[in-house]
Amino acid sequence: MKFARRLETISPFRVVELLERAKKLEADGHRVVHLEVGEPDFPTAPSIIEAGHAALTGGATKYTQALGIPPLRARIASYYAETAGLQISPDRVVVTGGASAGLMLLSALLLDPGDELLLTDPGYPCNEVFVGLVNGVPVRIPLEASAGFQFSLDQLEDLWSPSTRGVLVASPANPTGAVLPRQLLGEVARSVARRDGFLIIDEIYQGLLYGPESEYRSGLEVTDDAFILNSFSKYFGMTGWRLGWMVVPEQALDGVARLAQNLFISPPSLSQHAALAAFEPAAMAVHESRRVSYAGRMTQLADGLEGLGFQLPVRPAGAFYLYVDVSVFGLDSLEFCWRLLEDYQVAATPGIDFGDHAAARYVRFAFTTGEEDIALGLERIERALGDWGVS
Ligand SMILES: Cc1ncc(COP(=O)(O)O)c(C=O)c1O
Repeated sequence: MKFARRLETISPFRVVELLERAKKLEADGHRVVHLEVGEPDFPTAPSIIEAGHAALTGGATKYTQALGIPPLRARIASYYAETAGLQISPDRVVVTGGASAGLMLLSALLLDPGDELLLTDPGYPCNEVFVGLVNGVPVRIPLEASAGFQFSLDQLEDLWSPSTRGVLVASPANPTGAVLPRQLLGEVARSVARRDGFLIIDEIYQGLLYGPESEYRSGLEVTDDAFILNSFSKYFGMTGWRLGWMVVPEQALDGVARLAQNLFISPPSLSQHAALAAFEPAAMAVHESRRVSYAGRMTQLADGLEGLGFQLPVRPAGAFYLYVDVSVFGLDSLEFCWRLLEDYQVAATPGIDFGDHAAARYVRFAFTTGEEDIALGLERIERALGDWGVS
């Protein structure tokens, strides 16, 4: 059977191979410390699960409106009013099957074959696949640790070519945890508008903020013209419910609606009804206490790794990842990850999964596991460094 040529450009995540090996090690009776997973270890908040049960019993088993059920679109709009004082029309809120479906919709909406999209390296790896599916061309903006993993306006403008149509940024970002400074975001929005381009801001880690930039609420505070991507996966702990949303400029609604109807018919009905409970005080209290747990784990892991001699260019301001330079130990990050898993049963994600700029130096450690496992992971890493003679 002949498959499409685009498959040749889609690489598997290295971390998937590592995960398979980790599963095998676990099946053989080893305790593996998981610092590779980009998914909350906490289950969905009980009140959301209850709402899900009630929705199922109440018959929420059919297709819904393509852009989402009206009460959820309204509830999401009011969330922006509550958290950021922003008045967003519910009409501009589009409910999607996770941010992944949002990325698919935006690629189809905004890119013609050959159109270039600027995105960051390192960055969320699937972005390039969505662009490639519509035969767009991803162009990478290299991020430097010395700049706190922020790009500059000059970099963006230098890379902007006659084929460039827009920019995709994330705040807080995967894998660096960097949060975009409001001023830079404003400059980017103005620069993109001058070029008649579009700006996509992936805010899927919204709410998971720890640092001084924690006044960041949404790019919508800076511009009304951006496409905002969001999700119930991370802060709301609902990865498996496959639900997200976008806030889109008014003039894009018709196109988004036509694409959403054709590509997906509707987002999952059950998940939408359950998600109505995600913004209520009972669930918000759970989400907030989990954010506090992540903040504690971040300090524990960052202090621990720095104590072992790792270079942590910046403490993340958000998300749940540390992007750590392991080159001081003289090992390539892929080799580092494999040896750490194979010989010490600690799983982490090599930089190569997020791009190729300085990827051989960096490893992403996720603090989506409890303090006991983080402590065990640190102990094992210390032993590894000692055994390798590089500590
Ligand atoms: C930056 C970023 N965007 C989008 C996604 C997709 O998330 P979902 O489809 O679960 O909403 C992820 C998942 O890890 C991510 O890290």
